[in-house]
Amino acid sequence: MTHNPDFKDGAAYIGGEFVPIGEAKISVLDWGFTRSDAVYDVVHVKDGRFFRLDDHLARFERSMARRRIELAEDRQALKDILVRCVQLAGLTDSYVAMVASRGRPRVKGSRKPSDCANHLVAYAIPWIDVIPLEVQERGAKLLISDHPRVADEAVDPTVKNYQWSDLTSGLFDANDEGFDTAVLCDGRGMVTEGPGFNVFAVIGGGLVTPERGCLHGITRQSVIDICGKEGIVCRAGDLPRADLETAEEVFLCTTAGGIMPIAQVGERVIEAGAPGPVTRRVMASYTAMHEDAAYVTFVDTPTRFAAAE
Ligand SMILES: Cc1ncc(COP(=O)(O)O)c(C=O)c1O
Repeated sequence: MTHNPDFKDGAAYIGGEFVPIGEAKISVLDWGFTRSDAVYDVVHVKDGRFFRLDDHLARFERSMARRRIELAEDRQALKDILVRCVQLAGLTDSYVAMVASRGRPRVKGSRKPSDCANHLVAYAIPWIDVIPLEVQERGAKLLISDHPRVADEAVDPTVKNYQWSDLTSGLFDANDEGFDTAVLCDGRGMVTEGPGFNVFAVIGGGLVTPERGCLHGITRQSVIDICGKEGIVCRAGDLPRADLETAEEVFLCTTAGGIMPIAQVGERVIEAGAPGPVTRRVMASYTAMHEDAAYVTFVDTPTRFAAAE
């Protein structure tokens, strides 16, 4: 092992410096903390390769533009920082996050967002799953929460953000009732998404995923791409709660977990099993995509990086 053991729990970039993850701290006066006024993105590294890195960076840039947050770092600088975090941590499988925070006002006492010094925090930590692996293996139990998702006219869910109070309420609902996780519906009774993932339902042999009220996940896009290539019918549009309740198969998807099969929706056990046949097909293609040069960016190993220094 040639990387610094201080970075064994992860490496962060903050205030222009690389530090062990435990030393990465922000001010309690940062608006990213006091107002959730930040945007972020998460990309994964699997077997030493970033997956769809440019797609994540493009979404991060769109999120920043929508929230009028500007960083000093351009896309190449950002890429170099993320790579360096992974290398310092010496990780081949990693959860890699980039956060653009509003920061603190440069003018004392100012309430104007435009007075704030926006800044970047990035980090690489060992891989984590949004739903624990053992739960994914048996198939998760999914509650359709009665807690509504915040209206997309109020908080744009296509901007990846930290407004999670409704999603957290959904998680409490689920856990209190013995479920693993939850999805939330909008005011129209349409399924949106859950705490950290998008939703797909198999209906009449084809896939349906919500279009409104949710983040347009990169993993969701991968599933849509897989369907296009393999001739599986896939529709992005309204998914009424009742259709999820009766779907032939259901799976969730996210960067930190991939394709996650559902065994039970509410009290109904999915007869096709978890994973069912369509879900299995998507899972196999998603795994194969990680070998496709079109989607991956190699990270030099820590050893090679140290040798080059
Ligand atoms: C609310 C929400 N929806 C969906 C997703 C899935 O997005 P992606 O596939 O880009 O990870 C995430 C990921 O963290 C999320 O936080």
